[in-house]
Amino acid sequence: MHTDRLIIEGLAGKKALKGKVQINGAKNAVLKAMAASVLFSDELVIANAPDTEDVKKLAHLLRLAGAEVSTDAAKKEIRINASTIVSTDLDHETTKAMRGSVMLTGPLLARFGKVSFNVPGGCVIGARPIDLYVDAYKKLGAKVVVKGDHYSIDGKLSGAEIFFALQTVGGTETMMMAAVLAKGTTVLKNCAMEPEIVSLAEFLVQCGANISGIGSPTMTIVGGGLLKSGGKKYHTIPDRIEAGSFLLLGALCADDLLIEQCNPLHLESVTSALRNAGVPLTIGKDSIHIKGNAKTKWADVSSFSVRTHEYPGFPTDLQPQMVAFLTHTNGEGIMFETIFEGRFKYVQDLIRMGAEITEMNPREVLVRGFGSENGSTQHNGNAKKLIALGKDEPLQAHDIRAGFAVVMAALAAKGTSVIQNVYYIDRGYEKLEERLAALGATIRREK
Ligand code: EPZ
Repeated sequence: MHTDRLIIEGLAGKKALKGKVQINGAKNAVLKAMAASVLFSDELVIANAPDTEDVKKLAHLLRLAGAEVSTDAAKKEIRINASTIVSTDLDHETTKAMRGSVMLTGPLLARFGKVSFNVPGGCVIGARPIDLYVDAYKKLGAKVVVKGDHYSIDGKLSGAEIFFALQTVGGTETMMMAAVLAKGTTVLKNCAMEPEIVSLAEFLVQCGANISGIGSPTMTIVGGGLLKSGGKKYHTIPDRIEAGSFLLLGALCADDLLIEQCNPLHLESVTSALRNAGVPLTIGKDSIHIKGNAKTKWADVSSFSVRTHEYPGFPTDLQPQMVAFLTHTNGEGIMFETIFEGRFKYVQDLIRMGAEITEMNPREVLVRGFGSENGSTQHNGNAKKLIALGKDEPLQAHDIRAGFAVVMAALAAKGTSVIQNVYYIDRGYEKLEERLAALGATIRREK
């Protein structure tokens, strides 16, 4: 699995892909719902669950702790009963390998009064410390002992007022879940407001939690007893990052692409930017349709600048994919990455393919699109385009989202590209090569 490679035949700048793609349940929603199962006295059933690597890892971690976990990929369902948990000393290897496991610590600490785990080292996109979690746990009355990358936290939690120095997605979710079982009232300020957080909070309220201010920067949680699902299922919301990834891939390489089972309202920062630039988009209730894109000359698709921002701003998880798109538009655009300090490693691969990108500082790159030089000549074969990178100098998937960006670049390029570390792509996108092949791409996986 870790040595898998993707072999992709480039479309040489033609917007040739056609077809439909259905969007799966959100990876960054299902992991939190799995963690939330620890707040329940009865079994929690999660529906529309994606079948990705991280889901499998978190299920394994919960099983090792003693929970009953069953997954059914065909039914897209996960069933978890946390009442059988016997240990809150989380498996060190698994917690080190997956940052998402830190979300479990809130519910476990709140329910069992103690939790210990290893924090993953920084990953390719940044240091990703958990100082905001430690600060919040201390405010909730817990004692935190840190030895290297090992954390032991214990104490009965009591409500407190917590102001997050950064609008942390995981921090907001983890403390919201911990506060559900803490004694008294907790006020969380400067909360993240991602749709995944709103969806989880609303479900917890349906199961007995007392949370107000959902979707606003200030949430108030009045602690109580364990929640009960009473057979209600958590329905995982559509993955807005997967939908946005396919939308940007379609804008770069498709003539006609219908993205179904998505929530366009979660992607307004992307659809409005693409429409303003001249990409032909039709937006439905649960679909986005790129139609007649092959007729749109790159000279008529104007470049633009983007600043990543907490929701509802432009998502950092679509930053690499947007840069890959901007390599073909008309003009110059600056991508300013405000969330993570190391999320441009993939740019070197795009530059090796011939993209005109200048790294201005660790958080800003300037992209000069091919459309500005060759808009009028793009169809006579002289147009500038990306050149494929083969097995001697393969492309790398540095992280989940950068992996998708290099797939986009390989599809737009002239020639056959090889992409390594496909394991990362599998963590965020189910059956990617099958879904792209169904759109007409020539792509295969090599073990
Ligand atoms: C979530 O990560 C997502 N992961 C990330 O998606 C996403 O990029 C990120 O939110 C931002 O939207 C999941 O939901 C599983 P943060 P999270 O806490 O919660 C700093 C993907 O590709 N920070 O909002 O870990 C942190 O370093 C992944 O699907 C601290 O400094 O992100 C970052 O710079 C990648 N101290 C910023 O805050 C802390 O204690 C935002 O991080 C916590 C965070």
